[in-house]
Amino acid sequence: QAKLVETSKRLAAYQAVKDYLLPEYTRVGIGSGSTVVYVVEAIAALGPAVTSKMAFYPTGSQSEELIEAAGLDLQYISKLPAGRQLDVAFDGADEVDDDLNLIKGGGACLWQEKIVAASAKQFVCVADFRKLSPSLGTAWKKGIPIEVLPMAAPRVLDELQRMGSQNPRIRPGLPGKAGAIVTDNGLWIIDAPFAPLLLSKGTEPGDGNNGVWTVDALADALIKIPGVAEIGLFYGKNGLQVASGAQKPVAAYF
Ligand code: A5P
Repeated sequence: QAKLVETSKRLAAYQAVKDYLLPEYTRVGIGSGSTVVYVVEAIAALGPAVTSKMAFYPTGSQSEELIEAAGLDLQYISKLPAGRQLDVAFDGADEVDDDLNLIKGGGACLWQEKIVAASAKQFVCVADFRKLSPSLGTAWKKGIPIEVLPMAAPRVLDELQRMGSQNPRIRPGLPGKAGAIVTDNGLWIIDAPFAPLLLSKGTEPGDGNNGVWTVDALADALIKIPGVAEIGLFYGKNGLQVASGAQKPVAAYF
């Protein structure tokens, strides 16, 4: 299974780069996670004749290192001139439904990922077969990653429980490291599981009454909790509503 998964990620990445990285592009977003490693490999394999005219924008320290190690031109979204967008951004996901709603943040990089996605004209999600699901929360059972201000974590946990999350918890640090995981932004991650049904699309009323949430209503409620910086729900049919700059989200799955 592990070999099959790696092969799928690699195939998906090479296919996505072949289909969506056009030679005339000059600004490219690079996401985080283990699938994106293959995206960068596929880009580097195109050679300097193609890549030397392109600048690459990371979503955190991991993708920054990937870009540099591949010998690609590293640039920062904070320096993107006003009015400019990235041509395309490639990123992975933890779960994808058929409306292109995503759960992201399994690697704790969701906030910068959402900003880079929102800065791109086109967002390409590269996901292997394990990530596809009819209803978010089915494939990725660890919960929705939520980036929080550490001092607000206890009351965010209380609020999440009140909203129906089962056993939301602060994500621990890497093995051998005490305390919570600290994001590239100096914040913490809370993983908040909601039952898959609560995230199914088209359910009524979907606003948390009777324990039923739609993706949009839950996302709207989560982002309003004081102390929440960003949430790992990337959502909205035919356009990431949160990532409003991304006009043409595309998923490549194999
Ligand atoms: C990082 O925080 C995430 O959003 C990743 O994009 C996501 O976890 C996918 O990672 P893998 O490609 O490692 O599955």
